[in-house]
Amino acid sequence: MTRGRRWRAAALAVALLLGGCTGDDGRFRPGAADAGDPYVPGAGNGGYDVAHYALKIRYDPAGGRLTGQATVTATATAGLSRFHLDLAGLTVDRVRVDGAPAKHRRDGAELIVTPARGLPAGQRFTVEVAYGGVPQPLPSAELGDGGFHATRDGAIALGQPESASTWFPVNDHPSDKATYELAVTVPDGLAALANGVPKGTESRDGWTTWRWAEGTPMASYLTTLVIGNYRVSTGTHAGKPLVTAVAAGLPANGPAAASVARTGEIADFLAGWFGPYPFDAYGGIAVSDERIRYALETQTRPVYGPGFFRGDKPNTEVVAHELAHQWFGDSVSLARWSDIWLNEGFATYAEWLWAEHDGGRSVATSFADAYAATDWTKPSVDPGRAAMFGDAVYQRGALAVHALRRAVGDETFFRILRGWLAERRNGIATTADFVGYAERVAGRPLRPLLDAWLAGATAPALP
Ligand code: TRP
Ligand code: ZN
Repeated sequence: MTRGRRWRAAALAVALLLGGCTGDDGRFRPGAADAGDPYVPGAGNGGYDVAHYALKIRYDPAGGRLTGQATVTATATAGLSRFHLDLAGLTVDRVRVDGAPAKHRRDGAELIVTPARGLPAGQRFTVEVAYGGVPQPLPSAELGDGGFHATRDGAIALGQPESASTWFPVNDHPSDKATYELAVTVPDGLAALANGVPKGTESRDGWTTWRWAEGTPMASYLTTLVIGNYRVSTGTHAGKPLVTAVAAGLPANGPAAASVARTGEIADFLAGWFGPYPFDAYGGIAVSDERIRYALETQTRPVYGPGFFRGDKPNTEVVAHELAHQWFGDSVSLARWSDIWLNEGFATYAEWLWAEHDGGRSVATSFADAYAATDWTKPSVDPGRAAMFGDAVYQRGALAVHALRRAVGDETFFRILRGWLAERRNGIATTADFVGYAERVAGRPLRPLLDAWLAGATAPALP
């Protein structure tokens, strides 16, 4: 051993000793407070990867109080001295890490947990959080608030890009997908609907527990919880559970019920283009609360606001849109929100496909109308937080999808779509990933074409 080496070994020994005394030998650092996504500052966290959320929730609509127990199973991706979860409002009573009491504090919508000892990189750990309070929605600019809304007879939790942190502690960013199980206890007579496969109900002392399991990884904004008076229909479609629910306040044979009733048929139509339906259950929930001014592709069970079903005719295009998201957005999810056209462009394109199939306007007409209406100065990719639900994302995104189809031909186009969805299934992706994949399948450069359609400042020539 050389002198230099011996010196370094001694220094290391001292460092380890000191580290041992303070409980921090340098291997452990605080996890990041967010995912680093500029569209959602504060959302998500760093230093771990969640595998599973087991949630037990009790909700009393009378006082709007929720009590919850969340067990989060995760793997440290760095040595962690402490880590964050997202939790907006609510009061935390107790936190345990691997069964041992852990220190915790709040900083705005962050729950900061300091375990008794550091968590080495690569280590699997569980966090149990006991919490409760009166959940509140998160104010959001465009389409109404996201998160937990107390309603007259229950509650509706949904929203994009953020909502989950209003009712459970979560790594609230789509780049960290996880499986879920949920047991929701509500007063007898009310329904409690959520994502995934129904696991039965049981009643005791005036309360009923509804159990749900989503065994395919799900982004946190795709979780939903809907409690209230609903007409629930439980059946099967293509050998999988199909659960639909229509708010009791909506007409039993009205357009909402008629639209949601076509879920299986529309999912099958889309599977014909995109490949096998990616989840273990089907469904849809039509709510009556006017504050829900949108539909959302909540995994396996989209939620539809009342605004889509005003006339007397069904609106199946919105169903096609939300079901298309089961492939584009839910099965293959965003690594960052600036790529949201990957969700909305394909879901809008699916509306065009469905309309043509269902006796409505042709894809060519949808394309021509959107082309004529597009403001080419606004990009689909990285549109800015304020424009993430704008026409540049939905309509221009769909135009780009059709331009790709025209350029490579139907056979290659659908090979690209199906191959992409199969390769990226249960994962996350970026625009560059998609462009690279399309080029590989087509065997030719497509980046100039897609750049022009997605981000060029002037109208591209029709391919
Ligand atoms: N992603 C939804 C859709 O395209 C629409 C949407 C945009 C939304 N912003 C939202 C839904 C906020 C709920 C909350 O179908
Ligand atoms: Zn959409």
